[in-house]
Amino acid sequence: MSDQSPFDVDVETMTRFVMEQGRKAKGTGEFTQLLNSLLTAIKAISCAVRKAGLAHMYGIAGTVNVTGDEVKKLDLLSNDLVINMLRSSYSTCILVSEENKEAIIVDPEKRGKYLVCFDPLDGSSNIDCLAPIGTIFGIHRKAIGEFILVEQNVKIKKKGVIYSLNEGYAKYFDPALTEYIQRKKFPEDGSAPYSARYVGSMVADVHRTLKYGGIFMYPASKKTPKGKLRLLYECNPMAFIMEQAGGIATTGTQPVLDVKPESIHQRVPLIMGSPDDVEEFLSFVKKHQTSA
Ligand code: AHM
Ligand code: MG
Repeated sequence: MSDQSPFDVDVETMTRFVMEQGRKAKGTGEFTQLLNSLLTAIKAISCAVRKAGLAHMYGIAGTVNVTGDEVKKLDLLSNDLVINMLRSSYSTCILVSEENKEAIIVDPEKRGKYLVCFDPLDGSSNIDCLAPIGTIFGIHRKAIGEFILVEQNVKIKKKGVIYSLNEGYAKYFDPALTEYIQRKKFPEDGSAPYSARYVGSMVADVHRTLKYGGIFMYPASKKTPKGKLRLLYECNPMAFIMEQAGGIATTGTQPVLDVKPESIHQRVPLIMGSPDDVEEFLSFVKKHQTSA
């Protein structure tokens, strides 16, 4: 047994990292304040989510818990936590949340220079089966529009062996997608087929894609011609991370990050992952366009 106490271990916490980087940057501290406020909200969300699981509060996605008390839906509770923390951080001016139809304008006396787009609890339909769910956020500086990478040196594999999409919708797939998926299952070159993985929480599916490589898709289909995922708070933040990691994020016709937002809840098709896998998918799109 080691004599070392767990308290002797030098753990790099997220808060410590944010503080260290903030100090190094020698700025106003506004961005550090923003990130720390977000971290506090996310810790509170994590705590509420864990409590929901441990206490077997079935119906947490509804409004009444086992004791019959009124319980706020976790996604709404998460939304309130993020909004309240960001509002009182004095670092934000506009908040765009999946849960709010309109953008939230922060009171002038509390206004800072950052705009935050977020999904407070992505994958919330998975709450009752305890699947991974999470908070997604993108931060822009007013007028400039900048994403900040918070984890360093994450790199995705050039090519993976996993494809990830809701294949239950195969009936609605276009021919290019149908053929691509078929090739993943029955490779023509005699190589092993790909594995299929799909949690149904983008945060979990993209995280796995970053770690193991492969391709994640919520494509355009006959059922969802614009895909399902929202540009500002689902696709853009993940596309940015994916590109930073050396991957590709595309709508099938253009890079996700090149799409000009037209409305705050706009949807776009999303295909992202290892560069070779996404390029291969795009070659099927091209082939079918040419033969059409
Ligand atoms: P949500 O923001 O309402 O939770 O919806 C987004 C989620 C993503 O996390 C996931 O990729 C997708 O919905 C799954 O949708 P589907 O059930 O159609 O496969
Ligand atoms: Mg979502």
